[in-house]
Amino acid sequence: MTAAPGPTLESGLLSPDVFRDQGHHQVFEAMRRDDPVHWHVDSAGVEFWCLTKHADVQGVSRDPLSFVSGAGFTLVDIDPNDLQGTMMRQMLPGMDRSEHTRFRRVVGKGFSPRTLRLVEDHLALKARTIVDNIIERGSCDFVVDVAAELPLQAIAELVGVPEEDRRRIFEWGNAMTGIDDPEFGGDKQASMAASANMMQYAQELRRQRMVEPRDDIITILTGAAEGSDGLSDEELAIFFLLLVVAGNETTRNATSHGMRALIEHPAEWAELGRDPSSDRMARAVEEILRWASPLLYFRRTATRDVELRGKTIKAGDRVVLWYPSANRDEEVFPDPFRFDTDRSPNDHVAFGGGGPHFCLGANLARMELRLIFTQLVTRMPQLEFDGPVEMLRSNFVGGIKHMPVRWEPREAFVGN
Ligand code: HEM
Repeated sequence: MTAAPGPTLESGLLSPDVFRDQGHHQVFEAMRRDDPVHWHVDSAGVEFWCLTKHADVQGVSRDPLSFVSGAGFTLVDIDPNDLQGTMMRQMLPGMDRSEHTRFRRVVGKGFSPRTLRLVEDHLALKARTIVDNIIERGSCDFVVDVAAELPLQAIAELVGVPEEDRRRIFEWGNAMTGIDDPEFGGDKQASMAASANMMQYAQELRRQRMVEPRDDIITILTGAAEGSDGLSDEELAIFFLLLVVAGNETTRNATSHGMRALIEHPAEWAELGRDPSSDRMARAVEEILRWASPLLYFRRTATRDVELRGKTIKAGDRVVLWYPSANRDEEVFPDPFRFDTDRSPNDHVAFGGGGPHFCLGANLARMELRLIFTQLVTRMPQLEFDGPVEMLRSNFVGGIKHMPVRWEPREAFVGN
């Protein structure tokens, strides 16, 4: 096996600090060059393959028979005998084969183009209001005041959570996923408590919809909508939990990373401002997704021995798909470290490498990003940093916690 290019490679990848300090791009560049199918053993003895090439991330994602998710989709192995393990097995990313197919079929109805069209006008209005609420102020924390709002509103709207409950959902979501960061709970107990609250809330919502069906996902998933299969009480609660985690932080971080990149690349920002047409904006959104790669990895487990680039991945081995690395693969993206909002083609893997687990919310996320960046680019062209950007300490979510920005205040009614 090729020697590791440096100490960071062996000690670094499991440490959330590497990602917080953005050192991972350097580590991945070295891996792609020197050891693209790298066997990693961390200091606690956890062993896994690191796949860092775009083609390998796609290949494994599209071969669900050889690489399954049920043994764990993060680096934590799923232990079916403990409570957390049982829950992870019941989440879409932890399901395989027919179980996964059935679940995707049921929940897919809630994410159909028709359902998304139903929420688009409402979300466009929300995006506009988010900018209205800050535009006269002249400064804000972009993450808290802009990026965090729309993803939460989108899920809440789609699911049917009333306005007055949305703040609670947001706080529970933070406590659940910011497990390594003290500001967001920082411990397993706080995270578990938040999950329990969230599930209980979903079950109450389900009971209400059984009695009083509405035009929302919970109603579809209870089976109360005409001609639809339903999810059990527990299945629905766990799915709700997954939606809040999967749909909230990811899109928030894509928005924050995108804004950061646009501030750091003023020529791109100006060009987008000159042509915010939907085609141009759609390409910019794809580049923001490639650049941000808000989810750092998902994991699979090999079911048989597989040869890859001269290495043997053995049955039972953990295989980690590093999306930020695949999205900077110089074999696929010319000049991959250049942020180019007009990049085309742009076959990024921010939503996964294809295959059955491809992000369920990809089109919702794309819509949200298009709506918020259209507002920002047309109404707030002169944003600049107003303090240091603070990163989330995590090795699963590539997150920005705080990003102070300022601009020349404008009146809220000015704009499109
Ligand atoms: C920029 C935003 C987002 C990014 C970068 C993202 C990324 C991902 C990735 C990488 C996966 C795993 C793919 C795989 O294992 O092959 C995934 C799965 C998933 N995402 Fe997203 N996601 C985003 C937004 C959303 C939203 C808005 C929702 C829902 C409201 C959502 C719901 C899901 C669900 C339910 C899964 C599991 C699918 C399955 O296992 O079948 N995501 N996402």
